[in-house]
Amino acid sequence: MTEPSPSYRVLVGITGCIAAYKACEVVRGLQRAGCQVKVVMTEHATRFVDPVTFRALTHEKVAVGLFDDPSDPIHHISLAEWCDLFLIVPCTANVVAKLACGLADDLLSTTALACPAPLMVAPAMNMNMYAAPAFQDNLAALRRRGVLVVDADEGYQACGDVGRGRLPEPDAIVARALEALADPPAADATRVLAPQDLAGLSVVITAGPTVEPIDAVRFVSNHSSGKMGYALAAGAAARGARVTLISGPVALDAPEGVQVVPVRTAREMLEAAEEACLGANIAVFAAAVADYRPAHPADRKLKKGADDAALDHIELVRNPDILATIAAAKRPGQVVVGFAAETDDVVENARKKLASKHADLIVANCVGDGVAFGQDDDQATLVTAAGDEELPLMPKAELADVILTRAKELGR
Ligand code: PMT
Repeated sequence: MTEPSPSYRVLVGITGCIAAYKACEVVRGLQRAGCQVKVVMTEHATRFVDPVTFRALTHEKVAVGLFDDPSDPIHHISLAEWCDLFLIVPCTANVVAKLACGLADDLLSTTALACPAPLMVAPAMNMNMYAAPAFQDNLAALRRRGVLVVDADEGYQACGDVGRGRLPEPDAIVARALEALADPPAADATRVLAPQDLAGLSVVITAGPTVEPIDAVRFVSNHSSGKMGYALAAGAAARGARVTLISGPVALDAPEGVQVVPVRTAREMLEAAEEACLGANIAVFAAAVADYRPAHPADRKLKKGADDAALDHIELVRNPDILATIAAAKRPGQVVVGFAAETDDVVENARKKLASKHADLIVANCVGDGVAFGQDDDQATLVTAAGDEELPLMPKAELADVILTRAKELGR
């Protein structure tokens, strides 16, 4: 963990959410790392944890109302200018929305608007609220402005649901805060942005391989690393889209601002895609889905000798075609993009897939040993009803940008 100088000053903002109790541990963790901490709370936050708790922890007055401190008539400005980092933990959907709109109707939001220091938010809420397009759009707007976001964790929630929206553990939040203090973002806190031409659009991407079990230890799969799908997800998020990435097992980090849905088998991927694609504007199927799966997977390890009959002849059954299933139920204006991974007659086979799978665009690429799979570059031809566009070999990030641009044009 990075050791900051003891002179770092962190203003911790607490909003009205059951996870407010974890903010006590965040305050303690920051203090243990040598930071000075002051606390500002919303009225609703005080219903979950009493300000007395934070007063005892920080030995400082805890600010709640805009007019609470008669000795400091412009409290929001003095707090805003005091801190090296303003960390709002937990940050409710309501406060994310207020920050996105620049609303300043209480001490916390007014301080955030006035604060020249980096702002970090750690959202926490019910999984459906977290997945709601309105919330995701607001969070994307904050990211675009350079606000640092600690993404919510997946897991058991206070309401009994299991999903994404949990506040990460206090240690992880403290570590992110210390990183930001040691290496603060640029002074104007605004990132150099990609054009936000996908803002307001929902994009679903599948990536990586699927894994189809033979028994408890063996499986059928392929060489997909997920790099192409993850490049598409990162590119779409950077251009302002709300992105759901349905990923088979890969060794890649989740791109920033992307909601990842981990799956293993083709049938799990189909179920996740059917749900995610309901409201999607663009769906890109970059995953290398296993076309077949063992018909009778064993839930234990099959033994050589004793289980030779089962191992010598593994009966396979066809997996559902995810791309074809989604394209068959396509809404007007929705754009469906598939890939074609071929070793021979690449473009010709891609044209057949365009027709048979009812896709709007097929990205045809040649695959093989050391080609496309696992590589950082790829050479592709984009095949649509209007014709073919042969692209040069390029980094997958650049190819992702071209694919997203063509998909957006097809949706007009
Ligand atoms: O992951 P990387 O290492 O970066 O490699 C990238 C890649 C080579 C995997 C990628 O560029 C690619 O070509 N992905 C598609 C691989 C594939 O399964 O191609 P296919 O020709 O077998 O399938 C055609 C299309 O149907 C694909 O969009 C595929 O996602 C989809 N499909 C296939 C079978 C199936 N049961 N369901 C599907 O949805």
